[in-house]
Amino acid sequence: MRKPFVAGNWKMNTDSHSSVDLATGVARGSVELAGQGVDVAVCPPFVYLQAVAGAVSSSNVSVSAQDIYFEAKGAFTGEINASMLKDIGCTYVLCGHSERRHVIGETDELINKKLTAAIAGGLLPILCVGELQSEREASQTEEVVTRHVKKGLAGLNPEKVSAVTIAYEPVWAIGTGLTATPQQAQEMHQFIRKLLAQMYDSQLAEEIRILYGGSVKPGNAAELMSKPDIDGVLVGGASLKTDDFLAIIQAAT
Ligand code: PGA
Repeated sequence: MRKPFVAGNWKMNTDSHSSVDLATGVARGSVELAGQGVDVAVCPPFVYLQAVAGAVSSSNVSVSAQDIYFEAKGAFTGEINASMLKDIGCTYVLCGHSERRHVIGETDELINKKLTAAIAGGLLPILCVGELQSEREASQTEEVVTRHVKKGLAGLNPEKVSAVTIAYEPVWAIGTGLTATPQQAQEMHQFIRKLLAQMYDSQLAEEIRILYGGSVKPGNAAELMSKPDIDGVLVGGASLKTDDFLAIIQAAT
């Protein structure tokens, strides 16, 4: 039985006060609404991770970084490694978010190195995969998602893969107000689970959580999560409003 998982990606938003306020509100509400029944994580910007970790420390809310660098230490100006993230209380880390792929230019190979380093450092990676609008229109959705999953997980044994959560986020649905229909999302989640069964085995495929992301709101979260292969959601814009994010957590219960 896969436990529902709701994660809020704050992207490059909030400040030192609003990040702690938001985290405190989410922590309080989430304990009341979901208790231990739903895994909840927030992904603040690097500079607020430690303060947010403090604000959620006595709740069921975990902290996730939005990115990581794969080297262990040294002359990599501006980068943050796994042990630093562990040190300040991170549990999860996003790898390969579409904005890192398409705005910053990260490749599948780099994302695989980051994900591998995250697991080696004791973090739980959330591997984001998903097609562009043009790729969907060209009927390349399955091909693109297959490449993201296979290259993202390359070289990992099943034990390591069991630490991974996958987030299917069609790029055309991120921040656009367009959401994949629950049927479209379920089709892709089922496709990813079958792919994992081929790559590893059906038991592992049944255990891995696959989240949906892309304009998730209180109004569509319950229907998305009612689908058999949608185990939770990765929320951007709506995770910046305490009430909206709590309503989405409630939808997961
Ligand atoms: P959105 O972002 O909910 O604002 O569409 C989702 C994401 O990028 O993870």
